[in-house]
Amino acid sequence: MSRTPIKKALLIAAALATTGSALAAGKLEIFSWWAGDEGPALEALVKLYKEKYPTVAVDNATVTGGAGTNARAVLKTRMLGGTPPDSFQVHAGQELIGTWVVAGRMEDLSSLFKSEGWSKAFPADVLKLISTKDGIWSVPVNVHRSNVMWYNPAKLKEWGVTVPKTWPEFISTCAVLKGKGVAAPLVVGENWTQQHLWENVMIGTLGAQGWENLWAGKTKFTDPKVVGAFTTFGKVMDCANKDASGLSWQQASDRIVSGQSAFNIMGDWAAGYFTTTKKLAPGQGFGWATAPGTSKTFVMLADSFGLPKGAKDRAEAMNWLKLLGSKAGQDTFNPLKGSIAARTDSDLSKYNTYSKSAATDWKNSKIVGSMTHGAVAPESFTSAFGAVIDQFVSSKNSAGAAAAAQALAVRAGFGK
Ligand code: GAL
Repeated sequence: MSRTPIKKALLIAAALATTGSALAAGKLEIFSWWAGDEGPALEALVKLYKEKYPTVAVDNATVTGGAGTNARAVLKTRMLGGTPPDSFQVHAGQELIGTWVVAGRMEDLSSLFKSEGWSKAFPADVLKLISTKDGIWSVPVNVHRSNVMWYNPAKLKEWGVTVPKTWPEFISTCAVLKGKGVAAPLVVGENWTQQHLWENVMIGTLGAQGWENLWAGKTKFTDPKVVGAFTTFGKVMDCANKDASGLSWQQASDRIVSGQSAFNIMGDWAAGYFTTTKKLAPGQGFGWATAPGTSKTFVMLADSFGLPKGAKDRAEAMNWLKLLGSKAGQDTFNPLKGSIAARTDSDLSKYNTYSKSAATDWKNSKIVGSMTHGAVAPESFTSAFGAVIDQFVSSKNSAGAAAAAQALAVRAGFGK
């Protein structure tokens, strides 16, 4: 039986409408630890995505907790349970390569890099962190700097102290401040922020090359220089607040703003917090310097997003990755986040004076990777190192902590 042309046209229109609405009902779930007052930069990126793909419902799933300490555990359950998010935040480097890439659970993004021309858009140092001989595994949205010391310019003036340039100088400044009644010249927070401080004391004491030698297995953690750096870290911790384990990194940053403490060592997401959340002006509301002993070094980490195999909304996730890696995406996200773009062609006029200074240093410094934020050490080391720090902070036993770290390095396969 033949259909009339009108009936046929109606049927075709109905079929098209169904296909169209199936497309229109697109979904995307992204997963990260950028929740609450860490959220504005990501929310701006999601907004940009929605402008480009208005019919896609974006589920911006977050698990709160600085440095991803809680999110990583949830991600693990989901990856192993076969219900991965469509795309998730991870640090460029070992944190992804040593885990979900070796396990064969990520998609190779080489063809995306090729079609988007990204092999030229990202610097070689960054590409190296996200690649193996078998592929490219994530799209970096930024470069954060770990080795920054934050302070309150007005308070330093009031106390009559200047920014210490080395760790021994820091310890003397701390004594001066204590003499003036500042109970905790340094503010630190929960365990990972202490690891973050530890890595800065190590790099500032051993130098950039000395730091790299540790992860290359060329220097043992039991080397007297490393043991000595643990002792320095112990003295630095003596300058800190006693309620550290109960403070988030934001609460620690707040104590710089309020003038309760003089210094905080934190990555430059603190600049994002000071400017975007607290609306403070760089150089006035907050000041910054490189962490003591690290003026010629840029300790880097990068937040990246990957595409797990079996992502339910693969096409939407690919569009998300495209946006993340684009100039527009990076220059929307980073001015709010405190980081700089991972791309080399970013428009610096969109960034504040802090970020401009970071961008200059990124070009002119020796680049090394952060351990605390997943760049240089295998996951088996980083996930166990927190216990070494906890133990050390209560015992101040440098030789014991160094031996424990060395044992972890051997177990992780890079220590001899
Ligand atoms: C880092 C991450 C930053 C920031 C910070 C605090 O690990 O790379 O983007 O989120 O943790 O949570």
